[in-house]
Amino acid sequence: MTEYTPRIVRTKPGKEFIKTVARLIWNQLEDLHEPLITLPTGSTPLDLYQYFIDEYGDRAEIWRQIRLVALDEYIGLPADDRRLFQNWLGREILDPVGVPPQKRVTFNSMAEDADAEAQAMEQWIRDNGPIGLAILGLGLNGHIAFNEPGSSFDSVTRVIELSPETRETNAAYWGGIDKVPEQAFTLGLKTLAQAKQIFLLVTGSHKAEILDKTLNGPITPEVPASFLRTIANVTIMADTAALEG
Ligand code: PGA
Repeated sequence: MTEYTPRIVRTKPGKEFIKTVARLIWNQLEDLHEPLITLPTGSTPLDLYQYFIDEYGDRAEIWRQIRLVALDEYIGLPADDRRLFQNWLGREILDPVGVPPQKRVTFNSMAEDADAEAQAMEQWIRDNGPIGLAILGLGLNGHIAFNEPGSSFDSVTRVIELSPETRETNAAYWGGIDKVPEQAFTLGLKTLAQAKQIFLLVTGSHKAEILDKTLNGPITPEVPASFLRTIANVTIMADTAALEG
């Protein structure tokens, strides 16, 4: 297995992180024609999305060209449920900046055959990809998208059982663990590896331990993000709190 050293963009926490990451993402978006991208949900990108709305919101010609493909999604929630990641991303970034709804390729959370829905997404990416820029967050347990610990490096888009740890973390957003579905769709690790560029966003001292494992620990499915060291074109964008603890 070839091991690569990911490029690390290191900034102070807060505004410097947001401004630096926004500029680097924007440069990529300007370079790509009709860029196919992924965007993470969670607390890490929230201020970044607000900054994009405030500072880049008027660049309609770029936002209109963007094609978004979902990274992951809960299973079993109706289309108007606020918890759906596609709705969360709509509220926090896509609607305000004007990424057209028809350019958002998302999972049908209520699909009768969830496995077939996952396979259809994998096929869609094969037919319409590659992903130009995969922007990812890092879970406290090392997951990227919803590739939970134990995910094979060969994994493709599929249905997964959420780990108790992930459900507990997400319960904070939705008012209790019983509100967090047990299953989800996720793009696979192999699916993500085919992206032209990957940016992993990591902030805060609570992520220091898992970021250290990601960068310096064994490359193992137990830390799915460690898989990023087996592919080229990965940039870790982290603040000093996450890098130093
Ligand atoms: P967070 O989530 O940004 O809320 O920490 C990251 C993730 O679980 O991917």
